[in-house]
Amino acid sequence: MSPLAPQCSSNETMLDPRRGFLLLFCYNSLNIMAIKEIKTRDLQVKQFIKEKINEIASTVDGVAINTLSGGVDSSVVTMLGHKALGKRLKTYLIDNGLMRQGEPKRVVAIFKKLGIPVKIVDAKKEFFSALKGITDPEEKRKAITSTFYKDVFGKIVRKSKAKYLLQGTNYTDIEETIAGVKRQHNILDQLGIDTKKEYGYKLIEPLVQLRKSSVRIVGKTLGLPKNIYNRPPFPGPALAARVIGEANPERIEIVRKATKVVEEELANTDAFQYLAILHENKVTGVRNGKRDFGLQIEIRCWESKDAQTGSPTRLPYSILDKLAKRITQEVKGVVSVTYNITKKPPSTIEAV
Ligand code: XMP
Repeated sequence: MSPLAPQCSSNETMLDPRRGFLLLFCYNSLNIMAIKEIKTRDLQVKQFIKEKINEIASTVDGVAINTLSGGVDSSVVTMLGHKALGKRLKTYLIDNGLMRQGEPKRVVAIFKKLGIPVKIVDAKKEFFSALKGITDPEEKRKAITSTFYKDVFGKIVRKSKAKYLLQGTNYTDIEETIAGVKRQHNILDQLGIDTKKEYGYKLIEPLVQLRKSSVRIVGKTLGLPKNIYNRPPFPGPALAARVIGEANPERIEIVRKATKVVEEELANTDAFQYLAILHENKVTGVRNGKRDFGLQIEIRCWESKDAQTGSPTRLPYSILDKLAKRITQEVKGVVSVTYNITKKPPSTIEAV
């Protein structure tokens, strides 16, 4: 079996238990065992790229479709797919309203420079209406996953008539899935495609044999800019994973502004990940001599290799001080900024 293009008809999709996040694998347990990891030290990067481009080109007849978030995996898959198929690859960036400041346009501009057209789909309304009133973390993640696959991407796939879906699943995703299987599902079901009526959809996952460090090397060799192939991780549910309580447009905007400050100030730290979290509870503050019952932002900055464990970075106090000053000045309503000093475990990297 080629690890590249498993058939979807008899396959399984599994749920990551913490995230309520469907990892979209098309492999039954036998096939999973057939995926052979390519370790970074064994990666013949040019050969790998050549093989994957050939495999995609010989598998796809007609049109293939993929979504780009601007993360490392989806960016590398977009590059491979474009090199294999040119205009026959249709790439969409789904703007869920939960991305960082200026992110959708920035990502599209980067790919435009590389000669790859990406269409932005404005799906803010769909996502915010699905998130309305939801405060439970798992329910939030489920609402985002279901809106993405069923309401937005599923419609695009059906309308496009594409029978091939390209996806950036990597080896670690597969391992995590095997470790935490909770429920089996079919990706086409998730996309709202009736498998009884429609046959022949294929999922193409060129990165399943690689871990993130190797995916970064492939991205670099393919000519992606460093700010893409070297990006710190960012969660699928985006800023909704950083709002405790309801993720409505106003609260997302607050955490978006705080995130901008944190990313600007901590970009040079070489930390694994750094983020801002908006708390649900307000606290008493004082502004211009008057009581101000306001918002709390928590900052986290992590040292980690694989996100399985982590320690807070020992940031110099001068940086913490600057973060507190900038956030209380630049993000309206914030009266308190804290720094998380807990390790993972028992903390997790994200707050939701
Ligand atoms: P946690 O919070 O579980 O995060 O310690 C570990 C790593 O995974 C990222 N993360 C996610 N990524 N969907 C994703 O695509 C998610 O729901 C999700 N939750 C956490 C997190 O940013 C960290 O790198």
